[in-house]
Amino acid sequence: MSGNHHENERAPMINNGVFIYPGSFDPVTLGHLDIISRASGMCGRLMVAIGRNREKKTMFSVEERLDMLSDVISSHGKKGGRSLSNVEPVAFNGLLADFAKNCGAHVIVKGLRAMSDFEYEFQMALLNKYLDDTLETIFMMTNVEYTYLSSSAVKEIALNGGRLDGLVPQCVNERLQRKILNLRGMNQ
Ligand code: COA
Repeated sequence: MSGNHHENERAPMINNGVFIYPGSFDPVTLGHLDIISRASGMCGRLMVAIGRNREKKTMFSVEERLDMLSDVISSHGKKGGRSLSNVEPVAFNGLLADFAKNCGAHVIVKGLRAMSDFEYEFQMALLNKYLDDTLETIFMMTNVEYTYLSSSAVKEIALNGGRLDGLVPQCVNERLQRKILNLRGMNQ
């Protein structure tokens, strides 16, 4: 029996409930995938929820982002990672607190990369608590390899023809290349 297989059979570390991992995922990166994989072992079901941050203009549509998340989640086990069979990508409109309630989730998972994330995340956690005091936010430290990573950085590198291996899964890299060709085609 492989180490990964054994790990998948262990009971969740925290509880059998539903956790929710929200973000823009424009696009999903290996940093997000690291959090998804670790959080999925802590709960019965993990909803990876694409929400809307009004401050951000996205490169990918919600459908494209959902598609990339589905690809990455379903291929993770096949590529030697833990099976993510309890992980479900979804999209929501409106408030995260309302969506979490509708899904029966009591725990929001967020990744923290550096101290600079803290202030914003602290505010979000308190606002979500204000909106629904049964909601708890837990923070996971991003793997040190990905502390410098963000979706914006990935897009910037892709738009300028830089190397993306080690930052995003291969299928996301391919989508980025295609998207950029499309965008360039449209601007000619
Ligand atoms: N690895 C790599 N990157 C990471 C990361 C990790 N582990 N953790 C965070 N990031 C990056 C993301 O890629 C993102 O990068 P970007 O700014 O370049 O796009 C950045 O950190 C912020 O990510 P996140 O904290 O997930 O925020 P978000 O803006 O992507 O998503 C929502 C925020 C959608 C969850 C939030 O706006 C929301 O809940 N909206 C619904 C409305 C609501 O309820 N608002 C709150 C109450 S007012």
